[in-house]
Amino acid sequence: MQQAVYDTRGADPHTRIRCVERDTPVPGTGEVLIEMIAAPINPSDVLTITGQYGALPPLPAIGGNEGVGRVAALGDGVTGARVGTRVLMPVAAGSWVSHTVAKAATLMPLPDEGDALQLAMLTVNPPTASLLLSEFVTLDAGDWVIQNAANSAVGEYVIQLAKARGLHTVNVVRREDMVPVLEALGGDVVLVDGPDLAARVAHATGGATIRLGLDAVGGSATDRLAQSLAVGGTVVNYGAMSGEPCKVAPGTFVFRNITLRGFWLAFWFRQASVAQQRALYGDLAQRIARGELAARVHRIFPLAQVHDAVALAARGGRDGKVVLVP
Ligand SMILES: NC(=O)c1ccc[n+]([C@@H]2O[C@H](COP(=O)([O-])OP(=O)(O)OC[C@H]3O[C@@H](n4cnc5c(N)ncnc54)[C@H](OP(=O)(O)O)[C@@H]3O)[C@@H](O)[C@H]2O)c1
Repeated sequence: MQQAVYDTRGADPHTRIRCVERDTPVPGTGEVLIEMIAAPINPSDVLTITGQYGALPPLPAIGGNEGVGRVAALGDGVTGARVGTRVLMPVAAGSWVSHTVAKAATLMPLPDEGDALQLAMLTVNPPTASLLLSEFVTLDAGDWVIQNAANSAVGEYVIQLAKARGLHTVNVVRREDMVPVLEALGGDVVLVDGPDLAARVAHATGGATIRLGLDAVGGSATDRLAQSLAVGGTVVNYGAMSGEPCKVAPGTFVFRNITLRGFWLAFWFRQASVAQQRALYGDLAQRIARGELAARVHRIFPLAQVHDAVALAARGGRDGKVVLVP
């Protein structure tokens, strides 16, 4: 079997990860052997290798945190799982592997139908998009939401989930060529970020009241979102693609009565019941299986080329996710 491993953390994450051969593990009592089908590379995976993420596994570590696999063998005493069933790769165990073992009782089974590449991206970004739209501001059909990094996977899930709820989205990107892509996906307004963003948002929405802003960029981009909100609006920061701290001018905070919050999916996992988790993931898995929820895939690499795959994933200007396959 193959594993993508790293022994050190720091800059240039692609230089730290390499693919190694290991003996294929044998599932113990109550365990199953899972054969990985596909596993994406997310910004959080890159930050985990550079050492900038909120939770860091001990070294040496296996890369990756999500993916889809197939049950390949059953250990003794396993009754609830079948060989061939598609399941989510276990979280926090390292998903950039050709095989892994997991407790059968912890597996999240997936629908038989649906694109495996899309299901491989279910664990992290779709629930993030869904929770950003449900946990901070009460939104009714017809309400508006604004977000930056709107051509990210999270951003595109936000567009699709918002549209399904009858919400309108203002989508802020940093590249003009992403405008038609997001309009085709259902984004109501798509604008390129810039100093006059708030005025352009007001013009494009007819002065709509926008009470929720979703910020994955930080730096001065946070202030531009905040300035685009109605008085009393909430900005939720959930990412730091600029590498900069969120900047909100005192005038924006004070004269617009803006609230700035943070969101981390890991905290939601700690407080959500198993029933809540299964309900959210069950709904999102069905939407993906039906083709109603999808993220674009830029390029697929074999695990053996994990070095090149991480280098590409760490760069901007992609047209979707970089995904690893065995
Ligand atoms: N808090 C949580 O629980 C949670 C959960 C999931 C994801 N996230 C975060 O959500 C964000 C998006 O994740 P993803 O997987 O959806 O990302 P992704 O699909 O890999 O897309 C990355 C996005 O970031 C943009 N970007 C890159 N560098 C930038 C910069 N310097 N300034 C502005 N924009 C920049 C890219 O724009 P271009 O295409 O123009 O390069 C692209 O829109 C990440 O920050 C991730 O860590 C957080």
